[in-house]
Amino acid sequence: MSSAAPPTLELREFNPKRPRVHPTLGELLQWVEQTQTPDRTTSSQHKNGLDHVLDLGFPSSSISQSYPFVLSFNNLTYSVKVRRKMSLLPSSKSVKLGVNPNANTKILLNGVSGEAREGQIMAVLGASGSGKSTLIDALADRIAKDSLKGTITLNDEVLNSRMLKVISAYVMQDDLLFPMLTVEETLMFSAEFRLPRTLSKSKKQARVQALIDQLGLRNAAKTVIGDEGHRGVSGGERRRVSIGIDIIHDPIVLFLDEPTSGLDSTSAFMVVKVLRRIAQSGSIVVMSVHQPSYRILSLLDRLIFLSHGQTVYSGSPANLPVFFGEFGHPIPETENRTEFALDLIRELEETPGGTKSLVEFHKSWQVTKNQKQREANGCSNSVRTSMPPKLSLKDAISASISRGKLVSGAPNDTNLASSVPTFANPIWTEMLVISKRSVTNSRRMPELFGIRLGAVLVTGIILATMFWHLDDSPRGVEERLGFFAFAMSTTFYTCAEAIPVFLQERYIFMRETAYNAYRRSSYVLAHSLLSIPSLLILSLAFAATTFWAVGLAGGLHAFLFFFFTICAAFWAGSSFVTFLSGVVTHVMLGYTVVVAILAYFLLFSGFFISRDRIPPYWIWFHYISLVKYPYEAVLQNEFDDPMRCLVTGIQMFDNTPLGEVPTSIKLKLLKNMSNVLGLNITGSSCVTTGLDILKRQGITDLSKWNCLWITIAWGFLFRILFYFTLLLGSKNKRR
Ligand SMILES: Nc1ncnc2c1ncn2[C@@H]1O[C@H](COP(=O)(O)OP(=O)(O)O)[C@@H](O)[C@H]1O
Ligand SMILES: [Mg+2]
Repeated sequence: MSSAAPPTLELREFNPKRPRVHPTLGELLQWVEQTQTPDRTTSSQHKNGLDHVLDLGFPSSSISQSYPFVLSFNNLTYSVKVRRKMSLLPSSKSVKLGVNPNANTKILLNGVSGEAREGQIMAVLGASGSGKSTLIDALADRIAKDSLKGTITLNDEVLNSRMLKVISAYVMQDDLLFPMLTVEETLMFSAEFRLPRTLSKSKKQARVQALIDQLGLRNAAKTVIGDEGHRGVSGGERRRVSIGIDIIHDPIVLFLDEPTSGLDSTSAFMVVKVLRRIAQSGSIVVMSVHQPSYRILSLLDRLIFLSHGQTVYSGSPANLPVFFGEFGHPIPETENRTEFALDLIRELEETPGGTKSLVEFHKSWQVTKNQKQREANGCSNSVRTSMPPKLSLKDAISASISRGKLVSGAPNDTNLASSVPTFANPIWTEMLVISKRSVTNSRRMPELFGIRLGAVLVTGIILATMFWHLDDSPRGVEERLGFFAFAMSTTFYTCAEAIPVFLQERYIFMRETAYNAYRRSSYVLAHSLLSIPSLLILSLAFAATTFWAVGLAGGLHAFLFFFFTICAAFWAGSSFVTFLSGVVTHVMLGYTVVVAILAYFLLFSGFFISRDRIPPYWIWFHYISLVKYPYEAVLQNEFDDPMRCLVTGIQMFDNTPLGEVPTSIKLKLLKNMSNVLGLNITGSSCVTTGLDILKRQGITDLSKWNCLWITIAWGFLFRILFYFTLLLGSKNKRR
């Protein structure tokens, strides 16, 4: 801890020109107004705070009393066991390292300490693989508590995860956005998810507009985000939108992993400028950056250089030349300081001793600096007294909120942590917003549903023409069975489109739920409900094209049941595929698994081999075959009429070697058979009804309605399982 406080002083010393908080014009006006009405109490400010931030786009702090937040971290150490996992796809690292199982531990962070202050940007630098992302993850509570050693405090208090989730934001390295929404819509949906329900719609809109200006996105506000297939906003704008959706609630601490990577220098500069503005609005900004340009460097307040998880420099950019000068490698005037430093670190890493000398030097340098500072403090206490009083975390947050910060939390009094709502909205609102977003998205991409409908219609038409007006002969019966088996498996196969849909959304979903934008259950419910209308349309299209064309029996009643069964099959199929997409996170692998499993389902459905012929050790698969239930339902729907004759006496010889014999001989044969059996079988008497067909197919255990209910129940079961995969699979934390 002792090393944590003094560096701030050093920063003030070397950055005397930059005041800690730049008041904006709005703030100044506000300040003037407030000094003119001094009777305004904190609680009334608290009520008005939201209005200020919404109107101005900046928290209107009364700058006479600013209570800075200080995020300190001390001696952070994190290591992972590098071992061969028993997974399908072994992690490439363990293969590359070729280590023996359960042995090596790899130290990713090694005693990293530092401090970040409100109004400042702290940047983590280092070559790729040096541990930047790991450090940001550690600070942002994205590493499981028991694996991370060391302390992280905000204003000397250890934060719990719940609290941190409310007051902080983490911006991922990738831009995970819905491509078909405009910038404004994207931010508005984020506002609806994360801003409290007490805030009116117009206030939320105002906040979005303020944010658009703060992010410098005014010109792109009405443009869609776009993707590979659609023209959209530029890379820099997209990055700023990504930042925007995470800071919609105006967090106190903002973490960003390489927000500038992949951007051209102008866009990168714009992004950091936006971040600087955010910091000055009363936030702590912690970001990693790969290689900052000279201009970006001028916006950063504090740097931490990492090499193999160890600190090799921490301090202000201004101190870099002094530090490296004293180390014996002065930075030439003409060189970019950070580039020089990074190159030097890289060179040292390649030497046999590694960066050990630099790490050691940094430690001793810090110690001497601290000493100097203490001496300076001893002479004049002015530095200490000029520092704003350090408030407890609770008071600091309250003060911050009363200044209009933290639009989301708005906790009122005493018990802060428990009064912070975990989710901003009730489940119904969340479902509504998720549905609205999903509908907007699919409306902008009608081709997705169009293709699906087309596929179903084409299959329906092919089946209709192939099986055109089947008759009631023994051959017709066989063909009917074939039609049903194919029709039912088609419904399942056309559900496979759900795989990429969820996989695409998966990371957006993970990002949003990681910071409690909404409940996972709302997501599952909203998506289940939303899938129903399209399933109904698809089912109707399929049932209508095939039912009469194929000549299925039973009239309107039977048609309705056929339609419901197809709906149920679509429902079960889409639920099943959705569940699988939650388990298998790779598109191609997902398709392979889905197609294989559906093929097995068909194999065990009872069409190819009836239940009584399935080997006993495979019979369980028959019962979990999703295709079995809708298949049996439609078969019973077709053949459950006991009066319907499917094989007459004369047709008994069809499909047998006697099939070609003339009719008169067949009649004679029937007569002789009747005599032997003691029955009266004529050419027109019925030897097989629909019920006999069902019996022959082994369809005796469930009624057709039960088959329908079971199919629907499967759908629900898989939705519930999907929910659990989301619960387990989106922990979003390293171990
Ligand atoms: N789970 C893990 N197991 C083993 N090594 C890991 C794991 N996670 C990260 N690493 C390694 O830790 C180092 C630091 O990673 P990271 O923090 O992502 O680096 P940076 O963001 O600076 O590029 C890298 O060498 C990376 O390969
Ligand atoms: Mg990284």
